[in-house]
Amino acid sequence: MTSPASIKIRRPDDWHVHLRDDEMLAAVAPYTANVFARAIVMPNLKKPVVLTSDAVAYRKRILKATDGTGFIPLMTAYLTDATNPSDLEKGFNDGVFVAAKLYPAGATTNSESGVTDINKISSVIEKMEELSMPLLVHGEVTSPDIDVFDREAVFIDRVLEPLLKKHQGLKVVFEHITTSQAVQFVRAAGPRVGATVTIHHMIINRSDMFKGGIRPHLYCLPVAKREQHRLALVEAATSGEKCFFLGTDTAPHSVNVKESACGCAGIFSAPSAIELYAQAFDEAGALENLESFASLNGPAFYGMDANVDEITLTRESWKVPEVIEVPGTGGVAPFMAGKEIQWKIS
Ligand code: NCD
Ligand code: ZN
Repeated sequence: MTSPASIKIRRPDDWHVHLRDDEMLAAVAPYTANVFARAIVMPNLKKPVVLTSDAVAYRKRILKATDGTGFIPLMTAYLTDATNPSDLEKGFNDGVFVAAKLYPAGATTNSESGVTDINKISSVIEKMEELSMPLLVHGEVTSPDIDVFDREAVFIDRVLEPLLKKHQGLKVVFEHITTSQAVQFVRAAGPRVGATVTIHHMIINRSDMFKGGIRPHLYCLPVAKREQHRLALVEAATSGEKCFFLGTDTAPHSVNVKESACGCAGIFSAPSAIELYAQAFDEAGALENLESFASLNGPAFYGMDANVDEITLTRESWKVPEVIEVPGTGGVAPFMAGKEIQWKIS
């Protein structure tokens, strides 16, 4: 079958974004807000979004940065060892918090105040189970003795499986999955477990990080894995199965902190995300499943309606900018900077 020159899909949502704050927020948020109707906003600011009041204030700043687009930020709570279940419940019942995020302490950017031991937040998890409030997990163990490429698979065995057994009603999103083990686990876990799949994990494998030299702009967490895992992710995302949905994990950092002796983790994919997903689905011969993945499965998991308006993607080549200016920094290099992409949003 020849693939079409253009497709129309319901407007997508992004179920995993980092919008940052201040000048970075102002510079990056429009790339998400101009395409996606809604996005799950990650709470890992330098001073994390822990309390309902933090989220109310942050949401206001996001709405200001995306004024005129109609974008709806869906706020999340950053869980700590000291999270108060009553504040979380109030935030959820008031429609401020949509979900809460588990960062194992030390797992990734700004995760220092994360949870040191899942058992320390049992009362919080019980409350979330009772409320049907989704728990979003950064699924990596942090023990230094576990190889960085094994951290996700070990997390499944040591943390996620026991957690789901203990809390039979808990809804979980396994964020930015990177392994075939995670794909299999999510498929088998039933409708209360979903997973986001990023576009960069569908495109790069771990060798790409070292092609011709070290490529700091391809470094993110969880780190990209072997080719066999990338293939499993492409197969899962493009299958149309309800448990897999779009979450870019777009995570901007300025060029100077990426290109450093100790460069930080995160890939800024927002400027070309939906176009690259279209290209990946096209290459997999599965464009007909793009709408399920990008626009239907996520809202269904979160118990929300799909968006009513549509976007059109056209087969047309364009070049991703080399850098996005952010005042006060050296700018941010987007994913696939300077490269040609074969699909374009009209
Ligand atoms: C994210 C960030 O920079 O905030 N980085 C990343 O590599 N994905 C944090 C995260 O989602 O792990
Ligand atoms: Zn993230």
